[in-house]
Amino acid sequence: MIEIAIDGTAASGKGTLAKKLSLKYKFPYLDTGLMYRMVAYDLIYQKKKYSSNLELESCKTAKKIDFQQSENIQLRSEEIAELASKIASFPDLREILNSQQIEFAKKNKKKYGGCILDGRDIGTKILPNANFKFFINASVEIRAKRRLLEKNISFLHENDEKCMLQSLIIEINKRDVSDVKRKVSPLVPAEDAFIIDTSLIDANELLSIVTNIIEGSSKKSD
Ligand code: DC
Repeated sequence: MIEIAIDGTAASGKGTLAKKLSLKYKFPYLDTGLMYRMVAYDLIYQKKKYSSNLELESCKTAKKIDFQQSENIQLRSEEIAELASKIASFPDLREILNSQQIEFAKKNKKKYGGCILDGRDIGTKILPNANFKFFINASVEIRAKRRLLEKNISFLHENDEKCMLQSLIIEINKRDVSDVKRKVSPLVPAEDAFIIDTSLIDANELLSIVTNIIEGSSKKSD
């Protein structure tokens, strides 16, 4: 049975890689960042974003959410991203989400022979014995450009575009710092992860590098 763990920075291409691998190998995949985003979204919706006990509120919220994933464009906003990064530092919330992620891996390995999870602590904490671990990164400028393209805004003047790009760079940098510096499960590559920089390659080139590693590997599945 195969476990594939993908970690990396925001907008590095890890989510697209996970989706492409899932299609190729027919293993279900879980975007664990989306789980933190779903909790953040519900907190905002319930007007609890500024609660004096945000950790308790986020745990209560997480326990009520059905994490069956559906893509919701609103979950991709910068406001949600910022709150998701903040609540991701709460150990009790992480415990709740971690157990769901581990359960997902167990269930799908049994049913489909494999699973793919992407996030920040998959190779270090959730699937420490994964058959394959990848850590995906790219320069902050490139990642901000990708985020801007995703927003699909075609009417920007050059100066507006520069301004938006600059603010995305600042936001992504802020999130990197908070993900890397937090005490619980900080964003660090697992010792046995393949580290890949996607600054100069596109999604298909990344897929090809990763599948070459997987298919050329002498590692045995159990
Ligand atoms: O991958 P993303 O941008 O959707 O993740 C949103 C936030 O969730 C990110 O700032 C870090 C956090 N996160 C985490 O701490 N651990 C994970 N396994 C996944 C995401």
